[in-house]
Amino acid sequence: MGGDQAMSGTLYGLGVGPGDPELLTVKALRLLRAATVVAYPAPESGGSFARSIVAPYLEDGIVEVPIRIPITGGEPGEAVYDRAAAMLGSHLDAGRDVAVLCEGDPFFYGSFMYLFGRLADRYPVEVVPGVSSLMACAAALGAPLSARNDTLLVIPAPLPAGILRVRLAEAEAAAIIKIGRHFEKVRGVLTDLGIVDCARYVERATLDNQRIVPIDAVDPADVPYFSLILVHRRGAAWQP
Ligand SMILES: C[S@@+](CC[C@H](N)C(=O)[O-])C[C@H]1O[C@@H](n2cnc3c(N)ncnc32)[C@H](O)[C@@H]1O
Repeated sequence: MGGDQAMSGTLYGLGVGPGDPELLTVKALRLLRAATVVAYPAPESGGSFARSIVAPYLEDGIVEVPIRIPITGGEPGEAVYDRAAAMLGSHLDAGRDVAVLCEGDPFFYGSFMYLFGRLADRYPVEVVPGVSSLMACAAALGAPLSARNDTLLVIPAPLPAGILRVRLAEAEAAAIIKIGRHFEKVRGVLTDLGIVDCARYVERATLDNQRIVPIDAVDPADVPYFSLILVHRRGAAWQP
């Protein structure tokens, strides 16, 4: 990937795992400690989840670049990533290595990919995979993601109910991500399909305040962004 500019810094996309700082990989930790500049997504005000995961490991003297992403209910505008790419590009041009933190894995719905899309043709880039929320939630539930030749569907909850219904009708196993304010719609679809009893809800997996709740017990007004639903239509298909 990228750059023939011998003097430029390297862009690292570091997967930092689902929340527990012990789920950072050895490689991500080494590169984090070596980076001069550490960038991370953050809300318009307040702290960054990705930064909080690596907070125990951050060295003094690093340059921190929060990438403030407005919570508009939709996808953040391209301008946010244009500005962030320009800012990180100036550090890379100056020969500084830049580590971009990404919760979970950078290439699994990770916002790092939008910086990668803007910078990878100009600079050396290394992507370090991370432990994804799907794996963390499966482990928390004690329920493998999918068994034997079952198909695993990964589907974002913001999609319209009709699309959720068609795709979930086909899958033996599913992970429904980005739930937040879409919980009620998702619960309705699962109920219509008769699979609500095959679904389980996990929020903030691997954190101290992790919660696993039956779908019927979830308060739709209190569903955080960092939650997902795993569906096992065939039940515990991994058992003998
Ligand atoms: C934009 S995607 C990013 C996924 C991330 N790159 C990964 O590999 O897990 C964000 C979604 O991942 C899920 N998620 C991330 N961390 C989670 C956690 N600790 N517990 C439950 N769900 C989580 C939620 O569904 C959230 O809305």
